Amino acid sequence: MLTRTPWWIRIPVLFFLVFGLMEYFIDSGEQPAFMTYPITQFFLVLVLLLLIAIELILKAIENVMFQTLSKEAKERYLADKEKRWEWTWGKAVYAKMTRTKRIEEEAEIILDHNYDGIRELDNVLPPWWVYMFYATIIFGVGYLVRFHVVGDYTQSLEYDQEVAQAKLDIEAYKKTAKNLVDVNTVEVLTDASDLSAGQKIFEVNCVACHMADGGGGIGPNLTDAHWILGGGIKNVFNTISEGGRDGKGMVAWKQSLKPLEMAQVASYVLQFQGTTATNPKAPEGEVWINPDAPKAEEVVPEAPKEQASDSTTVAMN
Ligand code: HEC
Repeated sequence: MLTRTPWWIRIPVLFFLVFGLMEYFIDSGEQPAFMTYPITQFFLVLVLLLLIAIELILKAIENVMFQTLSKEAKERYLADKEKRWEWTWGKAVYAKMTRTKRIEEEAEIILDHNYDGIRELDNVLPPWWVYMFYATIIFGVGYLVRFHVVGDYTQSLEYDQEVAQAKLDIEAYKKTAKNLVDVNTVEVLTDASDLSAGQKIFEVNCVACHMADGGGGIGPNLTDAHWILGGGIKNVFNTISEGGRDGKGMVAWKQSLKPLEMAQVASYVLQFQGTTATNPKAPEGEVWINPDAPKAEEVVPEAPKEQASDSTTVAMN
């Protein structure tokens, strides 16, 4: 079969065969071997060159052999070559799977009714369709037995398992992808390592204006419930990232701090809430009420301290 196939089929088939074997035998973890081990790309190029070289050599041999043939043999050989290459096996399967009648044979299957000149052929159902139909029946029986007779696990159980797994995956992803936070996804970080990292960043960059205890100086007091630019992790993150109002002195830090670092220092800044600074600056701005928090009247006696104090300050205003 190979000698009858043209080179443009032979080369790709052999190439992908080698490629497939290579991927199968080289253990390269999640990524394909040709990505994990770039040296294999070199190997594949070599294989390709080799295949092309073999083709060229075969062609040359064919030419030489052709010259040695007698005149009639040459003609026969050329005539043989003229016949276009056909994928006989593929054609046979196609014919078997469709069982269509050729136009010349249609007379055999034409039905004898005639509606205003429109007539109907009695074609058989195409075998590819019939086999698929049988396959669905077998599948249906299997499914029935699996889920309605045995029934030890259901779709909703599968769903719950997948959701649980996805939650674990998200947690794992968040751990590795902390640097992807932005103002929309940022959340208060509570890990001691994050907070101490935040503290370091604060001490290096921010104390000059906000003081080490957050009491404020050039910058506003960060320990009280009043915020000029809004409290809560998202606003604070945004202020740090984008800076304060023009000309006030609070620059945008997104150039010099990574997203994770801004989340860390923002979380650290929020730790100042409710502490007392040695030399606090007078409150500036508004008391910030978290719009996501439960409303004041809904606050039950055991509600978290922070919301309770917010509502009392509001009441006093
Ligand atoms: C050059 C002085 C200066 C430095 C350094 C500085 N800030 Fe500020 N910061 C300010 C000023 C001034 C404001 C008020 C901005 C305004 O009024 O728009 C401010 C506002 C803020 C606010 C908002 C406060 C509010 O009431 O809304 C936060 C949060 C903040 N700074 C955090 C930081 C952090 C974190 C750093 C270090 C990465 C830092 N700042 C560095 C001067 C500074």
